[in-house]
Amino acid sequence: MVLNPKGGCGKTTLATNLASYFSTRGRKVALADFDPQGSSGDWLAQRPADRAPIYQVALDEAKEKLLIPLGMDHIVMDAPAATHGKELKRHVKKAQTLLIPVLPSPIDIRAAARFIEELLLVGRVARAETRIAVVANRVKEQTLIYQALQRFLASLDIPFIATLRDSQNYIRAAQRGIGIFEMPPTAVAVDLEQWQPLLRWLDNDRGTPARKH
Ligand SMILES: Nc1ncnc2c1ncn2[C@@H]1O[C@H](COP(=O)(O)OP(=O)(O)OP(=O)(O)O)[C@@H](O)[C@H]1O
Ligand SMILES: [Mg+2]
Repeated sequence: MVLNPKGGCGKTTLATNLASYFSTRGRKVALADFDPQGSSGDWLAQRPADRAPIYQVALDEAKEKLLIPLGMDHIVMDAPAATHGKELKRHVKKAQTLLIPVLPSPIDIRAAARFIEELLLVGRVARAETRIAVVANRVKEQTLIYQALQRFLASLDIPFIATLRDSQNYIRAAQRGIGIFEMPPTAVAVDLEQWQPLLRWLDNDRGTPARKH
């Protein structure tokens, strides 16, 4: 599940690209969109029919019951902004792994600090039954605020696993219902490289509890 109550930090971008990645690897993947804005649902609706399939998780009105298609290898969940308190606990219960994208901005860093404090008190997370990692997103390297974000993420007691740059490739992919993994490799080489540590962490660490890397 991609989660962070701060709006616009990249939850949908991470969720859709992750689903795209799994689909291109021949894995059966379904996408669950918990956001009333329905952005990843819109993305999926736009997905060209000749692309590797990504299935949709149907949700009931309260978004509590998940109708997951049979035989899935992965379920990628896109959480809405402003998820706190009881709703946060309900969301955390649904996931084995949480990815938290954070933007290089003072407002986002402060909000992430508060959110992570709240998250670490959620039972499943406190008991290390849910794996968590943070991802720096929309990074412009060589900026002071990126250095501040790096220091903040590295200071956390949860793994900081990837840095994704600010790139038009994500916008272009989103427009077409695809992910960067489905674009011409030469156009997205830098972005593909930046995803590798995240994908390795997801693949290799399956089933182990959250811990600092
Ligand atoms: N690495 C990136 N490079 C360039 N643009 C990006 C990147 N990540 C996200 N964006 C853009 O930033 C905007 C917000 O991203 P996104 O919709 O993924 O955030 P979100 O956390 O899902 O937002 P919300 O809280 O509203 O659901 C979108 O227009 C998206 O295309
Ligand atoms: Mg979103």
